[in-house]
Amino acid sequence: MSNIIIVGTQWGDEGKGKIVDYLTEHTDVVVRAQGGANAGHTVYNQGQKYVLHLMPSGMLWEGKECVIGNGVVINPLAFIKEIEGLEEKGISVTPEKLRISNAAHVVFPHHRALDVAKEQRRGKGKLGTTGRGIGPAYGDKIERTGLRVNDLIQPERLEAKFRARFEQLTKTLEGIEVEDPEVTLEQYQAAGARLAPHVLNTVEFLHAAMRDGKQLLFEGAQGAYLDIDHGTYPYVTSSNTTAGGACTGSGVSPAKIDEVIGVCKAYTTRVGSGPCVTESEEFSDRLHAMGREFGATTGRKRRCGPLDMVMLRFTTMVNGLTKIAMTNLDGLDGLETVQLCTAYEWKGERLSLPPVDAEDWEDCTPIYEEMPGWSEDISGAKCLADLPANARAYLDRVAEITGTPIGIVSVGPDRQQTMVCDG
Ligand code: GDP
Ligand code: IMO
Ligand code: MG
Repeated sequence: MSNIIIVGTQWGDEGKGKIVDYLTEHTDVVVRAQGGANAGHTVYNQGQKYVLHLMPSGMLWEGKECVIGNGVVINPLAFIKEIEGLEEKGISVTPEKLRISNAAHVVFPHHRALDVAKEQRRGKGKLGTTGRGIGPAYGDKIERTGLRVNDLIQPERLEAKFRARFEQLTKTLEGIEVEDPEVTLEQYQAAGARLAPHVLNTVEFLHAAMRDGKQLLFEGAQGAYLDIDHGTYPYVTSSNTTAGGACTGSGVSPAKIDEVIGVCKAYTTRVGSGPCVTESEEFSDRLHAMGREFGATTGRKRRCGPLDMVMLRFTTMVNGLTKIAMTNLDGLDGLETVQLCTAYEWKGERLSLPPVDAEDWEDCTPIYEEMPGWSEDISGAKCLADLPANARAYLDRVAEITGTPIGIVSVGPDRQQTMVCDG
């Protein structure tokens, strides 16, 4: 029996959806515990491509249960669209398969409008958010003015609380284009009725599942450097994306967790603003020319560079990683040399762990270790022995620097292009 947390170790888009999909076969319940529809998790299943935003990736498997925990922020209209999209592809989303926490917070159109307006006001200093209203929705949660799913499913309570909140926001929303609140109210009441059969106290549900011997798989969204506490603040998202967030966002104690697997791309990518020490135009152009590294949620080009081990050292600590799942190793095929950034140079000092402030990250330059690359196409590899020796040496070096074994290696987007490493 094991309960596993899956987290992103970089700036998101590490391939968490693919790894969660792969591991779902051996679990019972897949749980999202933070973030919202800012996430975009790509999964290929039987030739069909799915991009999941709020829905746990486990939904693509028959006979598995999915939970949206208390730590998530839900835009019910977007979520219903996502459910309908899945149903059109033949995946039925029943109340037995999908359970939603009554304590999760609700994202409203004014959160989205505020998100976009604040970004416009920031001008050049914009954060590059996904524009999904995530920051303002979590802001209300922390400010204690948010509405929760339990309010959403009770029409009178929703009406009273929504009207009161909207009125409080009159000044803040001046000059910002927002949907007519009467239309929103009507749409949200209908959405509440539509989602109500899925809503319950998911803390009780998850604990009952564990008592019944079921295994839980926590599907992290975003990545460690987008964590509100540990990331490149303020260029972060508004939730705790590191392993602890899975526990607070679901009501499952850390004492119940057996493993934390960090998903790590074989190189670095970032979408949105903020520092990225190893970013390289040449490296980015190469991947974009291969048709890779375009954002799953917004379609934006991801900024790319060689793998940053300074970041990975810290991520390993902060998440307590028991294993690393290395994805997109095939993205390095054909490089004569592969680079690993093993330290930063910062104002004449050599750093092995990242600084705390984004400004200081901007002043860091990468110190690279070079290893011989491989010319083979590795996308057909079925086991480690199929990989070129130089690719295996690259994996070994990552494991050595982090002191953490590589448990899974992915060489393509399909479920079959995944290998589990023994030992
Ligand atoms: P997530 O947000 O962490 O779930 O990651 P995304 O889905 O946003 O981005 C990861 C991208 O890499 C997706 O397009 C995946 O289909 C793709 N992907 C995942 N693993 C691999 C891999 O090993 N090789 C290749 N070529 N693509 C991969
Ligand atoms: P997944 O789960 C990559 C980034 C945005 C922006 C910053 C803040 O697919 O890995 P927000 O809308 O959250 O307020 O934006 O965070 N961001 C992501 N980048 N993958 C994600 O999710 C992301 N979710 C948010 O680009 O820089
Ligand atoms: Mg993504």
